[in-house]
Amino acid sequence: MNPINLVQVTDTHLFGQTSGKLGKINTLDTLNKILESIQCNEDQLDCLIATGDIAQDASSKAYEHFMLSVEKITAPFRWIPGNHDNVSLMQRISHGTNYCDKTFKIGNWMIILLDTSVKHEVFGSLSEMELEFLETTLDLIKQDVDISNVLICLHHNPVKVQHGWSEEIGLRNRSDFFDVVEKFPEVRCAIFGHLHQEIDIEYKGIRLLCSPSTCTQFVPNAQNFELESSNPGYRRLVLQKDGGIDTEIIRLKEI
Ligand SMILES: [Fe+2]
Repeated sequence: MNPINLVQVTDTHLFGQTSGKLGKINTLDTLNKILESIQCNEDQLDCLIATGDIAQDASSKAYEHFMLSVEKITAPFRWIPGNHDNVSLMQRISHGTNYCDKTFKIGNWMIILLDTSVKHEVFGSLSEMELEFLETTLDLIKQDVDISNVLICLHHNPVKVQHGWSEEIGLRNRSDFFDVVEKFPEVRCAIFGHLHQEIDIEYKGIRLLCSPSTCTQFVPNAQNFELESSNPGYRRLVLQKDGGIDTEIIRLKEI
């Protein structure tokens, strides 16, 4: 089996208006630059995954802009909602595509995509239904001789990674999440966004990876919210047959 090539983009924060900016950054402009960079640098891409905060203003137009931009990438594409998104609008707008599919099987890997968004809240939570879906899917994978490894995608950070302003905005019921995934050694890694910074840590035997945003970045470990000046980026992931993951952050050279 050849290694599987994935790319994660996250926190694109698009607006209905194409001139929309977050901080001083035109978010559609930097998304398009990131997608151009992916087109140039990523050979044989197996899947592109957007881990939430697709839109800043949850408008139909913002999702339409996103879909027009992402169509340039020929690889399969999946998206999940973040705290800024409207999940039912995302489903409606992408009707007829498989963008909202919650599983993606490739080689001996299964990718599971979860919705951690809670209406009108910045923090995240996995609903009873979502936890049940996760457990049922992992149970089925255990019986599938073709699948040895699992990657989970979610928007909110499933561990507290730092003190300060961002401490309370992660996944609230993270212990419920780990109660499920800990039972399945096939789960190798979880990728997420939300914190707009690069993170690579291990918790309870699972690798936890956060990617920088395709627009603005947050200062890690800041007591008060602060924007950082590093450039927009994306995460490249190469999934190996034995469960190993090679990964790297690629940032724009200039905005
Ligand atoms: Fe965000």
